[in-house]
Amino acid sequence: MPPRALLNGGAGFIGSHIADALLALGYHVVVLDDLSTGKRGNVPAAAEFVHLDVRSPEAAALVRDGAFDVVLHQAAQIDVRRSVADPVHDASINILGALNILEAVRAAPRPPRVVFSSTGGAIYGDFVTPPNVEDFPKDPESPYGIAKLAVEHYLAYYGRVHGIEGVVLRYANVYGPRQDPHGEAGVVAIFCNRILDGQPLTVYGDGRQTRDYVHVGDVAAANAAAATAVLPAVGRLDARAMNIGTGVETDVLTLAETLRRVSGRAATIDFAPARPGEQLRSSVSVAKAGRVLGWAPARALDDGLKDTFDYFASLRS
Ligand SMILES: NC(=O)c1ccc[n+]([C@@H]2O[C@H](COP(=O)([O-])OP(=O)(O)OC[C@H]3O[C@@H](n4cnc5c(N)ncnc54)[C@H](O)[C@@H]3O)[C@@H](O)[C@H]2O)c1
Repeated sequence: MPPRALLNGGAGFIGSHIADALLALGYHVVVLDDLSTGKRGNVPAAAEFVHLDVRSPEAAALVRDGAFDVVLHQAAQIDVRRSVADPVHDASINILGALNILEAVRAAPRPPRVVFSSTGGAIYGDFVTPPNVEDFPKDPESPYGIAKLAVEHYLAYYGRVHGIEGVVLRYANVYGPRQDPHGEAGVVAIFCNRILDGQPLTVYGDGRQTRDYVHVGDVAAANAAAATAVLPAVGRLDARAMNIGTGVETDVLTLAETLRRVSGRAATIDFAPARPGEQLRSSVSVAKAGRVLGWAPARALDDGLKDTFDYFASLRS
């Protein structure tokens, strides 16, 4: 019998790449998604698809009775600005949806491992000097980050009190084919489309604000590793949390110039006033993921950006 994986949010950008990675390893993959932002066409043909909301009793029943070895929870409201505008909606999916799944995991005859997608960008806030290490203080600046941190606390609690195996992967800014312009690395999708439209690339402020851009293929590989890795002892909040990024800070001006170069297209770069409240620097240390998961990012930024640009170009042909 192949191992069974439930992939919540598997019709989305990152989830669909995780589905590919798990199928390649011989898993039976069930994708659960409400298609609110995901697309049915993103789900590989070899995966099973169920159209459900993670908040529903039907989703809970599937988790409880589905005999899964692992549940990978990617389903979320991912737009940080929307979380600011409507924190109740954000919490309903990002906290209560996750909690519905965790309670069902607890009720399963043989509780599966849970791999939870958190954020290495929004969770630490702007008060620490990058690269962020897992046990740095957390002070999220948005309801989105607060919700991710809340679920991490729940997972630590479920581990200590109920013996549930929870792994937290705190993604940096994930880019690659199928990405959404509203995600945390949305700028890559926006720049690709601007280049294809013959429009200038707009950089806010001096363009020196940095992010840690990690290719989605590397994030999928980290999830596959987390499904079976030997975990550190159960403990407090950060015990089983790992950053997934590159450890490299790339400023937005460099990103724009690199994308322009690898695309082989002409594009001008425009400057616009800095956006108030924008985080200035962000990157994450990935040493712990190396130790625990035996994982390291493999895709160089030039190569990954070329792959992403080619994807957006292919949508136009
Ligand atoms: N993209 C990034 O840079 C980034 C960075 C850090 C963390 N993350 C996290 O990674 C995960 C995946 O993000 P993504 O970028 O692939 O976004 P995405 O929007 O492409 O994927 C999210 C998926 O969840 C589904 N979904 C949303 N609400 C649902 C619900 N109530 N019930 C069932 N399915 C639901 C959507 O339809 C979609 O398919 C999210 O948890 C996100 O917070 C992403």
